[in-house]
Formats: sequence, structure tokens, C-alpha cells
Amino acid sequence: MVTVNLVPLGKEILARRNSPLIDILHELGVEFPCGGKGTCGKCKVRLLDGEIKTDAFHRKRLDELNLAPDWRLACLSTCQSDLVLEVGQYETIIQADESDFEFNSGDGLGVAVDLGTTTLVAQLLDLQTAKVLAVETALNPQSQYGSDLISRLESALSDGADALKMMIREKIGEMIGRMVDGRTEKLERIVIVGNTVMQHFFCGSDIKPLSFYPFESPDLGLKRFTSDDLGWKDICRDISFYPSIGNFVGSDILAGIMATGMHEREEFSVLIDLGTNGEIVIGNQTQLLCASTAAGPAFEGARISMGMLAITGAISSVESGPDGWVCKIIGNTDPKGICGSGLIDAVAELLHGGYLGEHGEILDGDQEVRLAGAVVLTQTDIQEFLLAKAAIAAGLEILMNRLSIQPEDISSVYIAGAFGNYINLNNLHQTGMLGFYSDSMHKLGNTALIGAKMFLFSDPSATSSILQMTSHISLESEPLFQDVYINHMRFISINSV
Ligand code: FES
Repeated sequence: MVTVNLVPLGKEILARRNSPLIDILHELGVEFPCGGKGTCGKCKVRLLDGEIKTDAFHRKRLDELNLAPDWRLACLSTCQSDLVLEVGQYETIIQADESDFEFNSGDGLGVAVDLGTTTLVAQLLDLQTAKVLAVETALNPQSQYGSDLISRLESALSDGADALKMMIREKIGEMIGRMVDGRTEKLERIVIVGNTVMQHFFCGSDIKPLSFYPFESPDLGLKRFTSDDLGWKDICRDISFYPSIGNFVGSDILAGIMATGMHEREEFSVLIDLGTNGEIVIGNQTQLLCASTAAGPAFEGARISMGMLAITGAISSVESGPDGWVCKIIGNTDPKGICGSGLIDAVAELLHGGYLGEHGEILDGDQEVRLAGAVVLTQTDIQEFLLAKAAIAAGLEILMNRLSIQPEDISSVYIAGAFGNYINLNNLHQTGMLGFYSDSMHKLGNTALIGAKMFLFSDPSATSSILQMTSHISLESEPLFQDVYINHMRFISINSV
């Protein structure tokens, strides 16, 4: 017998040596869309420990599907030894993008890193083909100092920022080390993007200016390092942390602009990142305006009583059925909580069914709605949603007013965010958060990572034109902001922003 350990599910299964992996995973709700022919790639598992030998057919399929060397197709694998596997269908928390983009090929290898408040993603690329050779994902270890940026800034102010700096440098260094593993002589450059606070922590910049009024840091520009500067092994001499756009709009959004190409088009587009800060960019080839809203991390589960990240056990979608709520649970397991997309669905369905009043009050007088198993949505959760929704909708309205445009003038709305894959665009519209019709909205996944990869193929100075045409608007200092925000603190007509 052998043991098969599945992460992040945390299950250990005893199996007969050489038994087909498909038999084990099928029992656990893993789907095999192409029926095990090895063509769809949806049953991929990452081999974290143990051995699964591949035959020529299996290797050809992995190659055609562009999967890094540590991935296997479960439908073509057997349990040849004790195994630790990450199941691709459960790997939903962090979006490690594999989309195509245009590039000018170069030599050697490059690493793109998206340093998020909650999650970290790094990819190793062949600079000649732009092929992703390895991926590393992790939770940001700074989370122990709080899930939001304010808590981390407060902690750094009282105890010093050094621990947060060392912690994040070490983690990213480890991730890159594992990906590169013996190929250091070919590692030409590393590009890191992240929000402004992450930039300050990673680069060792003074965080005080970001912590006190007027919240203006003099240190937002491009930062360059060698691996020696960062305490990493001698792996690379060209490491860049890309510049922030404004005091609370970082290079993750700069990368997002790059990923959408909105700065090159005549038509107006919007980029909305529903991550921890709720950033918005709007404009076209003439001008871009950006702002960060006070949406807070509600969509990442914080401040929602049973909120959680989009990982195994999270309710990722909710529909009303004849016998009550029909919930999809990531990993087809018992429900443990609700993630951002589930929260949006639940509120939209409650609104649609007439269960909520204009101010989000549950109309039957109950203080909670039971969704599935022990998972409930409380009255306070709905108020938290309303705060986040109002912040995004008000931010959009202010920026569109500045440009003298209406929702119908926007040709494309790009939704970025860790739970973007699951989001129901109609429901985003239904809640009144975004007053755009779903056919103009596109889920773009991890735009920060896509942009960071694109940056690997150009000189950092290539971003200067985007920086020059982008103005950061501080929503709080807009005279109309409070009124507009309060106006959106209710569920209003779904046709207005
Ligand atoms: S089920 Fe389609 S590749 Fe395995």
C-alpha cells in the first residue's frame, strides 16, 4: 500500500501501489472532463513529493498542455510510491496565469512575481518562447500581522518594519530558489509588482509617509536590486520592483493596465481589481485616471462572519432552487465558509428574491440566512457587502464624472481579482456594484502577474509613458465623494452606477 496526500484538501488516503489515480480522485469529487483521454488537462495534479513516472504519451500531453515539469495528468497516472499531490481543481486561491501575450523574444530565463497582500505568485519563464517553466504560489507570510494593509502598517510602526521586510524577502527568495533550482546562470531578470505598501515593505522604504496624513510617499519609483542586496543566493543581478502609480495605487495596477492594453485604445475601458483595496482605473489612450477605494477585503473573506478565501470548502456560487439555496462548494466537500464570488451571488439572489430591503435589511426580521450546512450570511455581513459595494460604485461614479463620460461610453470592463474565475458578472450588475451590462465585462484573472510577465520582455523605462498619462485621484478629497458614497449605501436601480 502507499499513502496519497492531497493538498490543500489535507486528506491522506491509503491506496494499492500502482492503482490508477483516477479511481482515488474521482471519489473525492475531482472531475475528468475529457473522460481520461489526456486531452483537456483539467485533471492536472502537481507532484510535490514522491514519484509518478511518465511514458512518452503522457510527456507529449504535458508538453502540449504547456505544463511545468512537476505537473502530471491524474487520468494517466498511477500511485507508484507515497505521494503528496496538489490537485489542480482545488488550486483556486491564487491565480497563476497561463495566458498568451505578445513579446519580443530574448535570451535566458526571467521570473515574474505578483506580491499580493494576501497571496504570492511567481512564474519562471523562458525569455525566448515566453513559456512558463515553473510556478510557485504561497500565502503572504505577513498575514500574521493582519489581513489588511492598515494592520500591517500599524504593526510596523509600533515594532519596526524590518521583520515584515525580511519575512517577505525570504519567502519570495525561497520561491524563486525552488523554481530556478540549478539554472541560476541563465536567470537574466526578475520583475516584482505589488501594491504601494508591499513595495515599501519589500524595498525597505520608510512606511511612515504612507501611514499619516497626507499619505504621500516620496519613494514610489522603480527600485533595482541584485540578489546580494536582498540576502538571496547569487541568483540574479537584475531585480526590479516596478514603480507605483500613486500613494495607494501600486505597480500591480500598472501591470494590470499593461495586461489590458487599455492605454493604447481609443475607446474607454475600466479595470477593476476587487482584491484587498478595490482599485479602479478608467480611461483610454489619451488619459487614465486611477483611484483606490475603501472597499476593504470583504471579497477576500475578511470582516464577513464566515468569509474565507476561494479555497476548498468555500461556497463559490449561490443560486436559488425550488427547495432552497443551491450552493457550489470548491472541492466538492463540506461547506466551511463563503468566498467573494459566493458573497456576491448570495446578495444578488437575496435581492432578486425580494428578501432584502433598500438598506440591506433582511425583510423577514431574521438576523441571518442559512446557505448550506452550517454556513450562514448574517445581517452584519450584508452591511459589510453594502459598504464595499458603495465604495466601488462611488469610486467609479467620481472617476467617470471627472472624464465627463457615462457607463454607456465604456466599451470594456476588465475584472481582476483572486476570485475572478468564479464571479457571476450578471450578479455583479444585479447588486448595483457595477452599472455595466455583463456583455461588456471580462474576467481577466491575475492581471498583475500577466503584466509583470510582459515587463520581463521590455526595459523598465517602457512604463514611463503609462505613468505619465495616469493621474491618481484621491477619492476622499473629492468634494462630492461623501454624498455619492452615501447614495450608493443602498440597493438602488441596477441600471445606474
Ligand atoms: S481528464 Fe482530461 S486530461 Fe485527464
